[in-house]
Amino acid sequence: MSNTNRRDFLGMSFAAVAAVGGAASLVGMKQAWDPLPSVLAAGYTTIDIAKADLKPGTPKTFKWRGKPIFLLEMTKEMVDEANSAGLPKDYHLNIGDKTYTLVIGLCTHLGCIPAWQKTKWKCACHGGEFNASGKQIFGPPPKPYVVPPFSLKGTVVKLGETGPESKAMMAARA
Ligand code: FES
Repeated sequence: MSNTNRRDFLGMSFAAVAAVGGAASLVGMKQAWDPLPSVLAAGYTTIDIAKADLKPGTPKTFKWRGKPIFLLEMTKEMVDEANSAGLPKDYHLNIGDKTYTLVIGLCTHLGCIPAWQKTKWKCACHGGEFNASGKQIFGPPPKPYVVPPFSLKGTVVKLGETGPESKAMMAARA
């Protein structure tokens, strides 16, 4: 083998080893970046509203990705109030003849968790208030509660997966 050929051969060998090593480390990096299956599963929370044992007018709190989720089946009076305030139908989640408020339960001022008091949520941090529709009605909160991404199948809400219902609700509150 001449010197030139040997150099070519060494160069090609090095390139081949580098290519294999590079591909292997890309596979390794992808595996390191991809979320674990347990993390993927934890990204979704499923609530079957028909089985959630809701009492109209009293919200329940669920948890999704570490955040509180408020789910309230609205009473007729609450729906009437929302209608007379001119809130669009998509402001709420409508299933059959029932109307729900489904929101991330964090105050839109600085992120405290407001508490339900009879007919509205009150934020202890700076006195903000949200009505049953999740709209800010008093104090410093600058906007309504945020709607979480969710999809709906029948009465089953899957939090973490954006469907047309959550898109419509987000648009109604924008
Ligand atoms: S964080 Fe709720 S009013 Fe300030």
